[in-house]
Amino acid sequence: MKQLKLPEEIVEDAPASRSLEKARMLTPSQVVAELDRFVIGQQKAKMAVAIALRNRWRRQQVRGKLKDEIYPNNIILIGPTGVGKTEIARRLARLTQAPFVKVEASRFTEVGYVGRDVDSMVRDLMETAVGLVKAEKNRVIETKAAAAARERILDLLRPKSDVPSAPGGDTIPNRSGSGHVPGGAPPTRLELARQFDAGEMDDWMVEVEINRPMLPFFEISSQAGAPEEMMMELQDLMSQAMPKRMKKRRLTIKAAYRMLIQEEAQKLIDMDEVVAEAKVRTENSGIIFLDEIDKIVGSNSTTGPDVSREGVQRDLLPVVEGSNVMTKHGMINTDHILFVAAGAFHNAKPSDLIPEMQGRFPIRVELDSLSRDDLKRILIEPENSLARQYTALMAAEGVKLEFTPDAIDEIARVAADVNDQTENIGARRLHTVMNALLEDYLFRLPSRELKHIEINGAYVAEKLKGIVENKDLTRYIL
Ligand SMILES: Nc1ncnc2c1ncn2[C@@H]1O[C@H](COP(=O)(O)OP(=O)(O)OP(=O)(O)O)[C@@H](O)[C@H]1O
Ligand SMILES: [Mg+2]
Repeated sequence: MKQLKLPEEIVEDAPASRSLEKARMLTPSQVVAELDRFVIGQQKAKMAVAIALRNRWRRQQVRGKLKDEIYPNNIILIGPTGVGKTEIARRLARLTQAPFVKVEASRFTEVGYVGRDVDSMVRDLMETAVGLVKAEKNRVIETKAAAAARERILDLLRPKSDVPSAPGGDTIPNRSGSGHVPGGAPPTRLELARQFDAGEMDDWMVEVEINRPMLPFFEISSQAGAPEEMMMELQDLMSQAMPKRMKKRRLTIKAAYRMLIQEEAQKLIDMDEVVAEAKVRTENSGIIFLDEIDKIVGSNSTTGPDVSREGVQRDLLPVVEGSNVMTKHGMINTDHILFVAAGAFHNAKPSDLIPEMQGRFPIRVELDSLSRDDLKRILIEPENSLARQYTALMAAEGVKLEFTPDAIDEIARVAADVNDQTENIGARRLHTVMNALLEDYLFRLPSRELKHIEINGAYVAEKLKGIVENKDLTRYIL
């Protein structure tokens, strides 16, 4: 195939200043590998999000006008309930360095909320970005802030102006915090510093002045139906108008040190810079995960809540398509924000979404329903697997919990059977099965005699037999 030639100026090497970002940006196969640690199977979905993620970074490398023309390919994840859609989103959030928010589309349909709140997800995204950038800057200035805070603690213990040999009246807080070391030569600043660094005075009490804004004692709520934007501005104005005041507090040195570090960090961070950087990140690498998108699909009827659901889609449209949203940090353009939607689409199909909406989500990925073998792997393989969770819970009672391989087989079999025979709720079935299985033990512990529990296949079969055989019981318990 003939390769398209790119104009010279379009692709260029990342300048040194961006190399950090580059190093942090995972390749698609790395993203999939990270997701594999927590989500079993669903390779198509993992690949789709991994590619979309990497494409954000690829676009960043593009120079010139073309960059603005490259829009993200929004994704819809479709799959039955309990197969890992939300889990993928949750894990994705932790591994991307990009601002990420997850919202339930259904949230916008609640009575009285219709159409009001859609922009709020962009505001949340910006807020996340500000937090992200702030945390990064914090890490850079951490040592500086800590050094400044240490000086302030030493000043507290021994004001710099003090002449070392001043007779009496030198206040050195002692262990009880009350005060004076009468007579005897007070320790020098150097000696205090040594003690402080060694952590010897961590528990001493000091009085520090902490700079804190007076918080309004009432929460401004937008429940009453006023436009959220107005409320947001009002809240912001209020907090600015409130006088900042110095508050004296008695704290241990350790606690005071921590508070002072924060305060010093605040001084060192330039908020305008943080906001500017956060805006760039939000607009260029922000990701919004719209969960439960099937809940805003109406059926054919034209009355009742369905109308409002379509209304919600119409409200979402401009945000997904690209528009400007006012946030308290300024205007945010949503053209290049990536949207990943997910839904079970039990009662509705993606084609029931209004056509304009469908068009905004060109990539459709179906997740597979879980086989017995998948359930078995889900039970033990993920780093947060249920087997590990229960093992840890029992360990808290000093008990060693072990599952034999045939027990795992049996649990997966029961879960799969129940999913087949009643309702398929995917991996969530494992939760109910495991709980029914271990309930007795969970109740009995702690116990002096019981220090080791081995769950084998026979025990599982025996324990769950009664429940599985009786359909009514199954429905209630599992
Ligand atoms: N493929 C999987 N690998 C590991 N764990 C899974 C997998 N699928 C589901 N789970 C577990 O099952 C539970 C439910 O999964 P999740 O919330 O992702 O379901 P969902 O697909 O979003 O379903 P719904 O459509 O009902 O929202 C979670 O605890 C999750 O850890
Ligand atoms: Mg979900």
